[in-house]
Amino acid sequence: MKFYITTPIYYVNDEPHLGHAYTTILADVLKKYHRKLGEETYFLTGTDEHGQKVQEAADKYGVTPLEHCDKMALRFRNLWTKLQIENDDFIRTTEERHLIEVKKILQYIMDKGKIYADEFEGWYCVSDERFWTEKDLKEGNCPLCGREVRQMSERNYFFKMSEYQDWLIDHINSHPEFILPEHRRNEVLGFLRQPLKDLCISRPKSRLSWGIDLPFDADYVTYVWFDALLNYYSAVKAKGLWPADVHLIGKDILTTHCVYWPIMLKAADLQLPRTIFAHGWWLIEAEKMSKSRGNVVKPLELADRYGVDSFRYFLMRDMAPGQDASFSEAMMVNRINTDLANDFGNMLSRVTRLIKVNFNGLTPEGDDSPEWRELAESVILSVKESIENFRLDEALKAAMNLIVRANRYLEETAPWKLVKTDKKSAGAVLYNALEALRLSASLLEPVMPNKMRETLNRMNNGDAEWRWGVLKPGTKIEMGDALFPRIEYKPPAISEKKKEEVMPDIAVIDDFKKLQLRVAEIMTAEPVAGADKLYKLQIDIGGEQRQIIAGIAQHYKLDELPGKKIIVIVNLEKAVIRGVESQGMLLAAQAGKTMKLLTIDGDLPAGAKIS
Ligand code: ME8
Ligand code: MG
Repeated sequence: MKFYITTPIYYVNDEPHLGHAYTTILADVLKKYHRKLGEETYFLTGTDEHGQKVQEAADKYGVTPLEHCDKMALRFRNLWTKLQIENDDFIRTTEERHLIEVKKILQYIMDKGKIYADEFEGWYCVSDERFWTEKDLKEGNCPLCGREVRQMSERNYFFKMSEYQDWLIDHINSHPEFILPEHRRNEVLGFLRQPLKDLCISRPKSRLSWGIDLPFDADYVTYVWFDALLNYYSAVKAKGLWPADVHLIGKDILTTHCVYWPIMLKAADLQLPRTIFAHGWWLIEAEKMSKSRGNVVKPLELADRYGVDSFRYFLMRDMAPGQDASFSEAMMVNRINTDLANDFGNMLSRVTRLIKVNFNGLTPEGDDSPEWRELAESVILSVKESIENFRLDEALKAAMNLIVRANRYLEETAPWKLVKTDKKSAGAVLYNALEALRLSASLLEPVMPNKMRETLNRMNNGDAEWRWGVLKPGTKIEMGDALFPRIEYKPPAISEKKKEEVMPDIAVIDDFKKLQLRVAEIMTAEPVAGADKLYKLQIDIGGEQRQIIAGIAQHYKLDELPGKKIIVIVNLEKAVIRGVESQGMLLAAQAGKTMKLLTIDGDLPAGAKIS
């Protein structure tokens, strides 16, 4: 079976950022999984090199557009190499193989009578290279990017998209796998409830020369989207690989891919792709990452700092591909430490060390445990299903579940003790744990090609088969350094101004450590004159007495309080409340009008630390 997968071809006016890296890694991981499942895979990515923005970028740097494209295309290619992307092809829309096909198809559609010339008037956005009608505008500006628009009138060529509206709706309805996930299909169907307009597919050279000449009018170049979309076909036409199985895209380019593209193919009498899958966006503090917002995260820096495999794992694990996801470096470090350093890496060290010490470093005999076999089979099935559904996050979770279960199993069976009384059973436990690691590494190899290969090599079992019971007793096991060393994350210093503006939504452990929390015993409670919500409390925080003012008067009677063990932040700045000094703050929980003090579950002396 063939599996032809594509990413969008990226604009060369931007530096590659985390969003580009995400789509490309996702495509790479899908390719590697499908290859593993025995399919003939072909993976295409590339660069979108025509259009106004590229021409402007080149002008800015004082180079020709092609020089600019050469430089940027190389930058993308180098990044993909660095990120262990195994694309089979890289198409640039300035290549001959592409120009030829674009012209052929334009001529074909023209000859079919589906392209016509017309005079057009409207508001034009230079940045998005689009005309808008008066009512599209947002406060007089481009509704897409918010930039200024100019009134323009032009003779142009139009593609009769409107004729294909009913056909497209039918196609989408009769092919549920055509647009995924389902909510995106509904979005496209919603868009198609409005009458579809014909598409302007030309730009006069007087305004833009950096494009592909229209074969039937040398005064015009082709509209960049009509040119760009055809890359998916032009790259593989000679190889006979069309149609594509999957176009992977971000939700930002849903309409071009799900409306323009199928209609272009239909008009050209070409087959349609099987699936267009649109994933969500990586957001930074709730905004889309983009160059214009200045919040771009550089993938190369992250991969250098934390390792390519860990970076790939985080991206695949932390986005459910149907939805948006938030990115922060703290979250990424947390994920790597928890799943990879603690769970996977520690277990590998532990198991290999136990085998070295107790079994001369040779794989012990297994016990053909039916529980482990069943668990393994269900995990493999769930990984396969998740891949079919583009749910890489679920696939990774399932594969890691083997590790979580094996860790628990080691705790329960304690082979380090068991080995003293029943060496055979201890050996079987270690066999099962090692086999769980092996299978998990095989399942995760498409995501973390280096580290999982290394894991399998340490077991001298390189086949990476997806079934239970592959390890051969008596095989030598190698010890090695920590596979995923724990990362100490140092959050960048936040300026005072920035602190006021944004409360980071993710706390790192250092944030928590700043607070000194103690168990305190309330000694006395008195009202505060003139303040009916406040009490003045004397508390014991372990050999030291403090006075605090607390807003609990409406929730507790004075005589209920003495003797209660509560939780207090003791290193808070002193405050003066209603003329009374307060040295700390107690913790309470609130729901509607009810407030309850936080206390401890059981008896501990005043002053006990909370961590
Ligand atoms: O649109 N989160 O190119 P482009 C996730 N040249 N993915 C993101 C992202 C984010 N914040 N930002 C970008 C173009 N992407 C056209 C495509 S195809 C015939 C022409 C990813 O450089 C995502 O895949 O703006 C998105 O669709 C793509 O980059 C847009 O890249
Ligand atoms: Mg974009």
